[in-house]
Amino acid sequence: METYRPRRSVLYVPASNDKALAKIPSLACDAVIIDLEDAVAPADKISARERLAGIFAGRPDRRCEMVVRVNALSGEWGAHDLLAAAKCEPDAILLPKVDTPRDILEAGDVLDDNLAADEVKLWAMIETPKALLNIGPLAELGCDPASRLTCFVAGTNDLAKETGILATPDRRYLMPWLMQMVLAARAGGLDLLDGVCNDFRDLDGFARECAEAAAMGFDGKSLIHPAQIEAANRAFAPSPEALAEARSVRDAFARAENAGRQVISLNGKMVERLHLAQAEKLLAKAAAIGA
Ligand code: COA
Ligand code: MG
Repeated sequence: METYRPRRSVLYVPASNDKALAKIPSLACDAVIIDLEDAVAPADKISARERLAGIFAGRPDRRCEMVVRVNALSGEWGAHDLLAAAKCEPDAILLPKVDTPRDILEAGDVLDDNLAADEVKLWAMIETPKALLNIGPLAELGCDPASRLTCFVAGTNDLAKETGILATPDRRYLMPWLMQMVLAARAGGLDLLDGVCNDFRDLDGFARECAEAAAMGFDGKSLIHPAQIEAANRAFAPSPEALAEARSVRDAFARAENAGRQVISLNGKMVERLHLAQAEKLLAKAAAIGA
């Protein structure tokens, strides 16, 4: 089984914000995305890029993944961002405004041509109408390790802007697209992160949004503020109830009388071997995050 890498809480940190950057070592998030794109004003784009090397030189430890979000490769800054990011050997480079598989393949070619280590992966924002229409072929790239693609990040603010849907607290108009992303990500063996919640002072609303995203099958949530980390870590970790259930399924199949059985009855419910596999996956996940 592939080792589980938690990505419950993934915090955007603007590369132009020294105070926010200085906080990284003290944060309990699973990953940070050092942002060169929408969090950085055009006048600061170049100086933000020039800070990357320094940010990675002081990299505290490998517990927290470090990802760089570059500007769109079709624009003025993206190509230089990609080269600067690759030199830092981040865990991944996050590509914004991806429309087609070609956008990811071209970025991968640049990394290959510049001898970036295989460990430098690509993540893709799903935030344009074209990306949604191409979601199957985009996700399919995940089946080929040479593409480097390992994760999708929902860009819900851009999707609302590009499509004209009303952003409601219950996210009703986004829901079908988010579920398409879940389906595609699973087909391609990719991780999937939910979009940000802009209202960072409303932690109750945020916790509800996380719980819903976890129920929808997301692996974690992208965050804008440190105050959101704790709720995301909790929501995307297996619950105590789910863990107790998983242990009872594992223990039931371990009993001698069930050794050769494909289907058993447990507390009045049918349990199949597929539930055992699911339970083992959940227990491995809990062990990895120390839950
Ligand atoms: N990463 C790390 N630290 C952060 C942070 C972040 N994303 N957002 C806030 N902080 C820090 C602040 O620097 C501040 O530090 P201090 O205690 O040393 O003063 C502390 O957390 C509290 O911040 P607060 O005053 O509540 O918020 P703020 O007004 O400074 O910042 C935002 C609010 C929204 C501007 C800021 O959170 C931010 O820039 N978020 C990221 C935005 C982004 O990347 N967007 C693009 C992707 S959608
Ligand atoms: Mg965006």
